[in-house]
Amino acid sequence: MTICEPVCESGQSLNENGGNEVTRLIINGGKPLRGEIAANGAKNAALPIMAACILAPGKVKLNRIPDISDVRIMGEILRQMGAEVCFDGKGSVVIDTTNLSETKAPYRLVKKLNASFDITGALLGRHGDASVPLPGGCVIGTRAIDMHLEGFKSLGCVIGQEPGGFVSVKANKLSGGRYHFAKTSVGATKNVMMAAVLAKGKTILENVAREPEVVDLADFLNACGANITGQGTTKLEIHGVKELHADFEYSIIPDRIETGTYLTAAAITGGDITVSGTNPEFLKTFLRKIGKAGQKVTTGNDFIRVEGMKPILPVGAIITEPHPGFPTDLQPQTLTLLSLSNGTSYVREKIFDMRFNYINELRRMGANVEIEGGTAVVRGVSRLLSAPVDAPDIRAGSALVLAALAAEGVSEVSGLCYIDRGYEKIEDRFASVGADIRRVP
Ligand code: UD1
Repeated sequence: MTICEPVCESGQSLNENGGNEVTRLIINGGKPLRGEIAANGAKNAALPIMAACILAPGKVKLNRIPDISDVRIMGEILRQMGAEVCFDGKGSVVIDTTNLSETKAPYRLVKKLNASFDITGALLGRHGDASVPLPGGCVIGTRAIDMHLEGFKSLGCVIGQEPGGFVSVKANKLSGGRYHFAKTSVGATKNVMMAAVLAKGKTILENVAREPEVVDLADFLNACGANITGQGTTKLEIHGVKELHADFEYSIIPDRIETGTYLTAAAITGGDITVSGTNPEFLKTFLRKIGKAGQKVTTGNDFIRVEGMKPILPVGAIITEPHPGFPTDLQPQTLTLLSLSNGTSYVREKIFDMRFNYINELRRMGANVEIEGGTAVVRGVSRLLSAPVDAPDIRAGSALVLAALAAEGVSEVSGLCYIDRGYEKIEDRFASVGADIRRVP
């Protein structure tokens, strides 16, 4: 099936007729999950790489594209700006940005993607002019853009605010520069890197993010003819080139957060899950903690297996940090696992101020978690209870699904429009390893 028509704009799940509906998951928990799950492509690499196609006029085929609503929304943003975007329904998308001439991002769609400001760098590189809605509040915390803007200024851009809540970034001619990020930011690193690839001269970016998704974006840009070195370290050196070219295929890296979520399902249900086609190197800190929690972890070149062991052990402290530290995107899932341990663990969230937004829902399932300052004190309980719960964001949503899979009895998880933003057909994936789970309107 080829999908070249505009898709659902709301981020809600699509029903069979292409309309929106409010859906929830019914989960009959308490069953050990066993089997193999193949990793999908990474959302946080797919989205910026789709945006980066703006920099390379022509056709690019991206493989291993996850079928999630954020990706469809990014496809729609590009389409509304003049690109041709064609999903083949089998994990690939062909993007042709030859005729993309619009410099103003469509507000209604862009506000749905937390990562939407990340298209600014690509528009700047292509047109020297970008007009993008200022990010609003977000359910997990403040989405600051000061370093994005300072980074653009170091390349010779002028920043302004336009009516309608848009920020405008313009440059007559982008020129290489030097910028030191005061704080590690994935979004700002991606954005300024995209703007710099077509700037005249050399750009040095210091204290950059080292996330695998940042490396994947740099590798993609290099495949288009950019000259970026240092990806995966804290310093990027970018020699501007005159133009980037398209007409090639590129495969997105595996999703480490999706991988970690499915492995946590093995631990929390006392099951045994192997995630294949993934990369253990991306998940070292997380896997160390899962091992410390008493779970059996086995890795190979491209797979990770977790065998759930009882008791689940407390792990002392977890502190979320930029890569290679413990990922903020696996904090809710891991905290949920620790809520069933036989002791006390401490989880400190350092990236986003509102990322404990799911704790009240977890408490309703019987978890014993108190927030003290920026730290969650997790006192393990012997079991979780089934309950109707509401997912407040993507990763918190998947954590509540894990809680429901572990809890005896039937739970309902609503707020699927969030979960669907980051997980492709989550109910099918869990059902394939033995979960009693179904999606109902
Ligand atoms: C962040 C996470 C990323 C995760 C994604 C989705 C980190 C470092 N980043 O990326 O792993 O996949 O959320 O959940 O873990 N900040 C500023 N000024 C800026 C930009 C950012 O102060 O100009 C701050 C943010 O408010 C935040 C921190 O820096 O506290 C990291 O933000 P950033 O990495 O940019 O966020 P995302 O790109 O969304």
